[in-house]
Amino acid sequence: KMDAYINKLMAKMTIDEKIGQLNLPSIGFDVTGPILSQGVEEKIEKGMVGGVFNTYTPNAVRKLQELAIKKTRLKIPLLFGYDVIHGHRTIFPIPLGLSASWDMPLIQKTARAAADEATADGLNWVFSPMVDIARDPRWGRVAEGGGEDTWLGSQIARAMVKGYQGEKNDLRREDAVLACVKHFALYGAAEAGRDYNTVDMSMRKMTETYLPAYKAAVDAGVATVMSSFNEINGVPAAANHWLLTDLLRNQWGFKGMVATDYTAIMELKNHGMGDDAQVAKLALVAGNDMDMVSDLFIGELKKLVQAKKLDVKYIDLACRRVLESKYKLGLFDDPYRNISEDRAKNNIMNAEKLALAKEAAEKSMVLLKNDNNTLPLQAGKKIAFVGPMVKNQRDLIGNWSGAGDWKKATSFWDALQAQYPSNKFTYAKGCNILDDKALIDKLNPHDAQIVLDSKSPADMIKEAVEKAKDADVVVAMLGEAFGMSGEAASRSDIGLPVNQLNLLKALRETGKPIVLVLMNGRPLTLQWEHDNTAAILETWFAGTKAGDAIADVLFGKYNPSGKLSMTFPRSVGQIPIYYNAKSTGRPFNDEQKYTSKYLDIPNTPLYPFGHGLSYTTFSYSDVKLSKTSIRNGERLQATVTLSNTGKYDGEETVQLYIRDMVGSVTRPVKELKGFQKIFLKAGESKTVTFNVSTDDLKFYDINMKYTTEPGDFKLFIGSSSADVKEADFKLL
Ligand code: IFM
Repeated sequence: KMDAYINKLMAKMTIDEKIGQLNLPSIGFDVTGPILSQGVEEKIEKGMVGGVFNTYTPNAVRKLQELAIKKTRLKIPLLFGYDVIHGHRTIFPIPLGLSASWDMPLIQKTARAAADEATADGLNWVFSPMVDIARDPRWGRVAEGGGEDTWLGSQIARAMVKGYQGEKNDLRREDAVLACVKHFALYGAAEAGRDYNTVDMSMRKMTETYLPAYKAAVDAGVATVMSSFNEINGVPAAANHWLLTDLLRNQWGFKGMVATDYTAIMELKNHGMGDDAQVAKLALVAGNDMDMVSDLFIGELKKLVQAKKLDVKYIDLACRRVLESKYKLGLFDDPYRNISEDRAKNNIMNAEKLALAKEAAEKSMVLLKNDNNTLPLQAGKKIAFVGPMVKNQRDLIGNWSGAGDWKKATSFWDALQAQYPSNKFTYAKGCNILDDKALIDKLNPHDAQIVLDSKSPADMIKEAVEKAKDADVVVAMLGEAFGMSGEAASRSDIGLPVNQLNLLKALRETGKPIVLVLMNGRPLTLQWEHDNTAAILETWFAGTKAGDAIADVLFGKYNPSGKLSMTFPRSVGQIPIYYNAKSTGRPFNDEQKYTSKYLDIPNTPLYPFGHGLSYTTFSYSDVKLSKTSIRNGERLQATVTLSNTGKYDGEETVQLYIRDMVGSVTRPVKELKGFQKIFLKAGESKTVTFNVSTDDLKFYDINMKYTTEPGDFKLFIGSSSADVKEADFKLL
């Protein structure tokens, strides 16, 4: 039916109208680049636009859709895209934070809620999920993804696609959007963590580690893909035929539409791929269907066809894919299907969404350390709350919070006053988020409106120290301005800003126990902080309900359960650092100089992948296996008894890792293959069983065949990648 409809429509279309469908300009506000799209409304009327992004609200969307429907010859409706990354109006924790929940139903629910709000606001396409595996925390965009692990990242990719598009991918639902997996591909591996930088990677590494998360999204039925800014082994993704056609479509069977990233076709000129005409042709032939903002498809493609330098079949193919996307959404039946003031009024930021935002915020927080049960705080104690994040509202919703309104986020201080009023709580700002004017100037003013306090840094610290001296416990709330992570926010030093560290050092001098509460968008280097504080709670940028969630976690109303999805290094010199590394021929040995290590720092990270404490304690029994050898196609059961040995009810994420001891190619020392979230009351125990199948043992062998190889395996179960019990088995 769809084919017949589109054949009929395309038979009526001129080449200009077809090329118009491939054009995706930005209209309205934009933060990631110069606003290049001009005269968009006029272009819509002339049929030179297939979709727009950055326009939302029923009213604004209706106006533009009316132009397409009432003024163009063929009345083809527009797509309306937007960067709905971690919520639309109700903002959930940044994706790196959400991934630390390891809670797939929750992540799916947040995407579902975002789709519901986005569609209520007139949108039908979201530029999410971002599933770039990332192992370099200098790269600011680690904030937008699910961390370093392929297996976990793939689960998240699937959950988010299902959330956006609906469990059954029924895009005609009034609350379903086209999802867009990005940034295809390998954008997370930009050299040295510098945004937009080169990627040069072996086929093995990309196949094993970086590509599976995109593939998981494709297998889950993602409707669209965004090609990335970076080059891959010498060919920019936006011009990469192998990537966008041979791999994505021919091998993986992707049937949807590909859009470029912002001005990526134009940027092919900077990459050194040719002039306007050459790059437009390259991008189309490679497999991009929509040109985001470059205006080079509408500027060049027709001339290329007329000059017989481009086969019109490529335009037809891309046009068909754009029209198919519109058809799948039901836009030809009702171009105004997402436009409803009623839905906007009832569905946006309603009580249900806000409750979900709070739940997601709580579940994303990671307790990094907690000496002497310093947390949870006792409401009756004298507590000094110190730091630029205590009353901060602006940064809570983090970067890429699209249509989120930071003024609607609850600051921690306001939440505290509302929920835990006490005249024993004092406050001092202590320092600005940043004092470094040069750095402040580099941040996008939209992203970081840092207003320096009128008091001098010395006076601010003095005031904070006085409050600290008078308290039983000091809670220092520090971190990054949200513009310090995210796009174009790479950092070579990923520590707390120096002025914040100065405050912390002065607080340390008081001898009072310090609880460090962090808000930031990436793993930070925290060695000094770890050595000099009693407890550290990582809260990321936790979204609209950040303040309430932090208050409830600090006072023990919610017992933290998050686990890191990305390793926290001790120093930048360890980067890249990730848990599933290779053994090397000279594995680490402290007593042997000529082994793989640093002279000045341990090999181990400060906080490993999978790490996260609770206010209670969990103990693990030894691992029991149902058998010690299996054959291909069989399963074995691995069992532990998990006990809550502490005083609080709590949730533990029990993690399963595997190591293939001998292979035709070297295998990582551990690979995550499963996890279960287990809630236990204080004193309760439970048997936790994993079914391990031989599919879990597969890898790309020496001939790049995805298979198993017989031999010895280790299986690990534990509370983090570095805290496990192990057992051995054989694959016969
Ligand atoms: O979706 C984004 C992408 O992640 C980075 N460049 C701009 C796009 C559209 O805003």
